[in-house]
Amino acid sequence: MEEILIGTDLQLAQNFLEKGDCVAIPTETVYGLAANALNPEAVAKIFEIKNRPAFDPLIVHIGSLDQVDALALHFPEIAQKLVRKFWPGPLTIILPKKNIVPDLVSSGLNTVGIRMPDHPITLALLRNLDFPLAAPSANPFGYISPTTARHVADQLAGKLPYILNGGPCHVGIESTIVSFINDIPQVLRLGGLSIEAIEAVIGKTTVSTQSTSNPAAPGMLSSHYAPRKPLVMGDIADLVKKHEQLDFEVLAFRDLQGHPGIALSKAGDLREAASNLFAALRTLDQSESDIIFAEPFPETGLGRAINDRLRRAAGRHTD
Ligand code: TXA
Ligand code: MG
Repeated sequence: MEEILIGTDLQLAQNFLEKGDCVAIPTETVYGLAANALNPEAVAKIFEIKNRPAFDPLIVHIGSLDQVDALALHFPEIAQKLVRKFWPGPLTIILPKKNIVPDLVSSGLNTVGIRMPDHPITLALLRNLDFPLAAPSANPFGYISPTTARHVADQLAGKLPYILNGGPCHVGIESTIVSFINDIPQVLRLGGLSIEAIEAVIGKTTVSTQSTSNPAAPGMLSSHYAPRKPLVMGDIADLVKKHEQLDFEVLAFRDLQGHPGIALSKAGDLREAASNLFAALRTLDQSESDIIFAEPFPETGLGRAINDRLRRAAGRHTD
């Protein structure tokens, strides 16, 4: 597999997946690295290609609501209420799993993460297949998630036969993960669906996204989503004053304050900022500067998920 194919051929993608190969797929959040979720050998290829530790479980993607019952032992009313409102969309639910879900998908947990992505091409693919697709983000483990087909090709060329191109991801940040174990909703990962939107449907919800060495949601590892060069979070003017000898660039919300770098949304729109976040991190990571200074975003709506990703990107490099 020297040459990586990028295209929009649904039939070709389907053929590879039916053979047990991996295909990169577009979603509204980030690109996924997909394989037949019910075939452990196909799933093993995902771990191999991503260099992903086997303790990190995968999300299972479905194209219709009735597929939940095939995967989960129990679908609480409160979870049904939430998905009726937000699926297809950037919401993953964690439910007790049936045996049909391979241990490799759930990393030995007795639960499974399920999501219906909101992307026309991938929904069509899922509806043509007679199995669901396990898919983590299509990046090497620990690096920034891809939001274009080109990002996937840049990192995984030669490792998979096909990238289904669905254009840039419009949400741009991974799904929000809500666990419903014992029928109690608990947010495990902040993401593309805001807490405010969730709470408007099911009321006050606990957010427990702390990172630990044995995380319930290993996307919570503190150095996840990290660029290769150091990223420090803080007030830009203070950082510049403190580190004026460094060759830095700035990752800002609206305004660069005269410094080099990228502002994610000049209009001050958090959704626009989220959709630009990962592409901007990649650009800054690949530039000539030595360090990235990122400013904290407002702690509201998608600003919370953006701050979460920036803190994890800063993981190893606290100021
Ligand atoms: O938006 C998204 O969710 C993207 C697209 C491709 O759908 N996928 C994604 O997958 O972000 P990934 O593997 O990068 O992150 C999935 C996270 C894992 O880190 C894991 O922590 C959590 O989902 N997860 C999956 N199954 C779980 C389970 N049974 N219990 C707890 N967490 C789970
Ligand atoms: Mg990921």
